[in-house]
This record gives sequence, structure tokens and C-alpha cells, in this order.
Amino acid sequence: MVLKVSKRGQVPPFIVMDVMREAALRVASGKDVVHLEVGQPGGRPPRAVLEAAKLALEDESETLGYTLALGHQGLRERIARFYKDGHKIDLEADRVVVTTGSSGAFLLAFLAAFEAGDRVALAAPGYPAYRNILTALGCEVVTIPVDGATHFHPTPAHLEALDRPVDGLIVASPSNPTGSMLSPHALKALAEWCHVKGVRLVSDEIYHGIVYGEPAATALGFSDSAIVVNSFSKYYALTGWRLGWMVVPPELVRSVECLAQNLTIAPPTLSQISAMAVFDATSELDARVAGYAANRALLLDRLPALGFDKLAPADGAFYLYADIGHLTNDSPQFCKRILAECGVALTPGTDFDPLRGHLSVRFSLAGPMSDMEEAVRRLARIPLQSIRS
Ligand SMILES: Cc1ncc(COP(=O)(O)O)c(C=O)c1O
Repeated sequence: MVLKVSKRGQVPPFIVMDVMREAALRVASGKDVVHLEVGQPGGRPPRAVLEAAKLALEDESETLGYTLALGHQGLRERIARFYKDGHKIDLEADRVVVTTGSSGAFLLAFLAAFEAGDRVALAAPGYPAYRNILTALGCEVVTIPVDGATHFHPTPAHLEALDRPVDGLIVASPSNPTGSMLSPHALKALAEWCHVKGVRLVSDEIYHGIVYGEPAATALGFSDSAIVVNSFSKYYALTGWRLGWMVVPPELVRSVECLAQNLTIAPPTLSQISAMAVFDATSELDARVAGYAANRALLLDRLPALGFDKLAPADGAFYLYADIGHLTNDSPQFCKRILAECGVALTPGTDFDPLRGHLSVRFSLAGPMSDMEEAVRRLARIPLQSIRS
């Protein structure tokens, strides 16, 4: 008897994970790999967090049992203070929900805000999980192709031009993979448009803190109906601790609480207790951002001469997204050949853009500068035109 496998579970793979698997196979065969595919901070977690974790583990009175589903109260209050300190926004801690990474926040947010069949708009290129989670939940994904003309972000004009209204809009600033940021003015325009039209805005602010110019604005400053998602995975460098948060409008709090109780019970307790210390580790965290800035400057200087001269703005985050349409029309194959010929792992644009991703590639600059230097040395040794497919 062949048993059923659900169609909604058959979402596309996260292609960067496939690249990582191929890179691991190359390493297993005795060759080395320079990793410019992975979008995570390298090195050890911030010292203050390790200290806090050690204290919690040694504290006999700390049971490390479940917290409440919406999260550890102390952490929720600390997150609310982050908006006061960083954005001058008064926020009730009751609206803060601690989640298992921002990934866990998306699941809760989409379930709480959208019905199956709802139409949710998002930009391409963009982070693939939005599309895949929405699809698994039975929502209709409405793709808005964006490019340099609108700084790689959707605008109210894009939304007005859709043939049918949407129920939701997902934005990310700085964005993955382009690093482009919405100006405060552009974010305000989107947030206000969504509020007036009854469209639920979900603002992914996971790359806040990793910016190379002006600080990023939060949608919380412009809309009370938006859902704001953030994470400890990027600026805070706690990727594997699986912790994120969201700020939800009051009318969604109870629904999110009940969903969280049923789906995960609570986010990981040791991570929550330890993460409270990370908000005071800014000098260590900002030193990391200075490292990303130096890597970015190096790649911006060297990549154009290697043929990667059409790069998205990279105002923030730790990526460079290159249009390689003059080199290939098959970016997955292009990345495979680069990995095989010089051991540099890159992510094909197909991960981020189902329409035009075959013409793009993403460089992650989150690793050490020595990796950036080695990658450009290796890429310079192979004539990229020979990889043309
Ligand atoms: C734009 C964006 N949002 C969300 C995530 C998910 O991160 P996490 O679940 O670790 O918070 C990522 C991870 O790369 C990302 O790039």
C-alpha cells in the first residue's frame, strides 16, 4: 500500500542547504572549500551570553523548565526596552512574543494573520522561506518582481497595480539577498498604505544592526497593525540558539499565544535566559559589524574586475547579490562549476527569485576576511567566461 504524502508539504528545498551539502562532500573528499554561501555569523557567541548561560546552568534554583508560551517575561520586557532605547518607541511588553528564531515567528504570524487561500505579496528576489511557509499553509503567494528601479523593494504603486487585492505583504529591510534597505520614508509609505487598505504588513527586521549607513527604521514606528519580526540570529550572532521575537498588534496576541502553546509550548529556556545579556554586548557586536563592513569594502573593490560588476546596493545585511546574466543563464550550474573548479561556495539566485534567479548569484560576506581574500584570489585564477553555460 502506498500511503499519501501531502502536496502542501512538498515545498522547494532551501537551495543554500544543498550547496552546503555539496561543499561538505568536497571537504570529505579531501579538498577544501571557501564558504561564501552561508548566511550566518562565524566565531563564538558573544561572551556575555556564554557567561549568562554558564550562570544559569550552575544556578541550582533555576529549573530550566518551560517558560510561558509567549516567552520569558524578563526577556519580553528587555525587548520592549530595546524599542525604547533604540527607536524611542513606547511598547507594552505584552505585545512582544519570543519565538524559536524568526522562522518560528513567521509560522505563528502567518497562521494568526492569514487564512488558507489569502493572497500574500512579497518581493522577488527575497528570502525563500516566506514563500515556502505561506505555500505550505495554503496561502497564495503573489510575487512582485523588484529591481534597482525601486531599490529592490515593493512600493504602494506595485501593490496598486496588482490585478486583485492582497491580504498581506511581507517586506525585509535590509533584505536578503540584496542587502537593500527601505528608507524611513519608503517604509512609512508602505506601512500606511497597508494600514489604510486593510493589508497586514509583516516586516522582517532580522538584519537590523548590520547596516553600512543610516540605521534601519522599524515598521513599529509607522503602524500599529503591522507585525514586526526580529531575531537573535544575525546582529546578535546567536544563530544556533534558535531565538527570535515578534511584536504583534494587540488583536493578535491571544491567537499567537494559543498557537504557540500548541505548536512549540515555549521557546528554548536556556537561550531565553542567556539572550537577555546580549543587549548589553553592543561593543562586541558592533566590532563584528565593522568586520562585515571591511569584507564588504574588499568585495566591492575586487569583484567588479572579476566580472561581478552588477551588484545590488547592499546597504545592510552581509550579502552581495550580483546579476551574472552576461556570464550564464543557469546560476545553479555556474555555482556548481565554481565550487568544483576553485572550491568557492556561492549561492545561486534561484534560491531567492523563482523568475530571474537563474541570472544571479549571492556572495555571503559573513565569514572572516581571510576567506574573502582567498575567494577573490581563487576566482581570479579561473576565467569566468569559461564557466559560461
Ligand atoms: C531575511 C531572513 N529572515 C529570516 C531568517 C531566519 O532566521 P532565524 O530563524 O535564524 O531567525 C533568515 C535566515 O537567513 C533571513 O535571511
